[in-house]
Amino acid sequence: MATIRIRNTGALVEGDAQVRAYLTQNDVYYDHWDVQQIPSHLQNRFDLSDADKNELLAALKGDIESLSAARGYVKWDVIALSDATPNIEELLKKFEQVHTHTEDEVRAITAGSGIFVIKGKDGYFDVILQPGDVISVPEGNPHFFTLTEERQVVAVRLFIDPSGWVAQPFADPEFQQA
Ligand SMILES: [Fe+2]
Repeated sequence: MATIRIRNTGALVEGDAQVRAYLTQNDVYYDHWDVQQIPSHLQNRFDLSDADKNELLAALKGDIESLSAARGYVKWDVIALSDATPNIEELLKKFEQVHTHTEDEVRAITAGSGIFVIKGKDGYFDVILQPGDVISVPEGNPHFFTLTEERQVVAVRLFIDPSGWVAQPFADPEFQQA
């Protein structure tokens, strides 16, 4: 279950109903998938082969297809990040820049944890995501994604048009590092 930390005040938003309400207010889609659908040999694994990734997508097919039908996604893949990822430090530095996209950015966390830092109506907030959390940052909304101290995550990404998913840097004087 996701937790929210509001950067201006340090206040936490916890509990399913409160988290959903806060994200809805900020136009961020949020849902939860049952990760017990994932075969046990793929749970808590971060070094996934292409065959493992395909098996993971097959296990979540029902959820992926219903979300895609509702929201127009046509492609999906799996991203796995951990200290075993080559150049992880460089990748994280690249990720941790506020940016926008010309389509929404969707992630379904299937293992580990991650943080979306999102510009909301009252400033930036962090959404700390756990397995099963599904989130979509709206098109054009400044944000970035990073890892938690656990430093490992597996997520399904869904796209309307993968070519639209190029990061446009967004230099924002309102953004302050936590
Ligand atoms: Fe992004």
